[in-house]
Amino acid sequence: MKEQRGAFTSSFGSMMAVVGSAVGLGNIWRFPYLAGVNGGAAFLPLYLFLILAVGLPLILSEFILGRASRRGAVGAFRYLAPKTKWYLVGYMGVTAGFCILGFYSVIAGWSLRFLFDAVLNAHAGQSYEEIAAGFRAFRNSGWQPILLSGVFLGLTAVVILKGVEKGVERWNKILMPLLLGILLVLCVNSFTLDGFREGMAFLFRPDFSKITANTVLDAMGQVFFTLSLGMGVMITYSSYVTKSENMLRSKGIVTLIDTSIAIISGIAIFPAVFTFGISPTQGPDLIFLTLPNVFAKMTGGQYVGILFFLLISIAALTSMVSIFEMMTNYLMEEFQLKRRRAVVWLLCALFFVSSLCALSQVEGSRLMIGKYNVFDFLDMLSSNYLMTIGGLLIVIFAGWRLSPKRFRKTFTSDGRYNNRIYPLFRFVIRFIAPIAVALIFLSKLNLIGG
Ligand code: PHE
Repeated sequence: MKEQRGAFTSSFGSMMAVVGSAVGLGNIWRFPYLAGVNGGAAFLPLYLFLILAVGLPLILSEFILGRASRRGAVGAFRYLAPKTKWYLVGYMGVTAGFCILGFYSVIAGWSLRFLFDAVLNAHAGQSYEEIAAGFRAFRNSGWQPILLSGVFLGLTAVVILKGVEKGVERWNKILMPLLLGILLVLCVNSFTLDGFREGMAFLFRPDFSKITANTVLDAMGQVFFTLSLGMGVMITYSSYVTKSENMLRSKGIVTLIDTSIAIISGIAIFPAVFTFGISPTQGPDLIFLTLPNVFAKMTGGQYVGILFFLLISIAALTSMVSIFEMMTNYLMEEFQLKRRRAVVWLLCALFFVSSLCALSQVEGSRLMIGKYNVFDFLDMLSSNYLMTIGGLLIVIFAGWRLSPKRFRKTFTSDGRYNNRIYPLFRFVIRFIAPIAVALIFLSKLNLIGG
């Protein structure tokens, strides 16, 4: 028998769920390090521009598809374009989900490890090299990262098992305000540091000479990643939202919150990095290697460290929940599986993928695909290809394949909201967003411009 379809019960709850998906490692781990390697403030205006030109239209497109069909990633296309191959876009999303959860849960596991370390005050008095060596030993053990990513996947599964209202919505309603609170405490703490001015100057004074072709690609990839776009997560969540919600308003707010949290994370991180004379251009290790080091030297650093790694763990959990829910919904809709059974299958499969990712990071590991280890390969495949191509096809579908009448009805909630501004968004979804994504994607493939 088919289980009843879940739904969010309040607009606050549904907004927190969407924010929970969007706000994740992308904001706290990826954004600061990308801003760091791309010349700090030079990255920001470009990023903001792409959020508006690509991010907002895309999140709206996914919401239109989910709301118009009341189905998940694959089901939405089957319903809106029956007897066509469009549903393959949904399959691409599910594949991207596997890839992302595989490596994302490993990073989430790292944050758990640093959280334990902070609680035990394990890094007090350690030098940078000692902290780095400890982290390397942890990664090389193989079993430790596997165990911790397994813990994270298990926690995610527990939330999903409870269903849409009692699991996804409820936990996001609790965890998101908590996350915001922690972030604000960290931000205020940042104001008291000696390197505050220098950190802020790095983040906010633009140096346009630092913008290269790569900056543009990084910025667009980040827009997709941070707003959870291009893989049907937002299609699935929007299928749980009541039809009367003002979509433009709520998605506008979500986009604003997500962007603000990325910037606030920058404010919480860079002053500390400058205060203790650490290079802001470290790359992916930025928060994991530099920050424990910063906390080790700071007065009260242990508590700041606990808060910080708790923050990242929460952010990671709620994003993982959204991907896991998208995949669970797919199994339930396509194969009429019970939620419990779908979750168990997924948990086993994902644990396998994440273990491969963790093992591929052991020094000298032979788990390689081409020149990448499995971890980097899945990251690259999902963010550079699956999400971008998926996103492009989704805006094209919303703008060109969906009937204009249905588009309008869904966008305006049957003519209730945004009737005047609607043509502008239709134009952006039909022309600006797809052209921008296609151009940037082609240049990524070196087909134009090199
Ligand atoms: N948006 C999440 C983040 O910023 C990551 C994510 C990607 C979540 C894709 C869901 C889907 O960390």
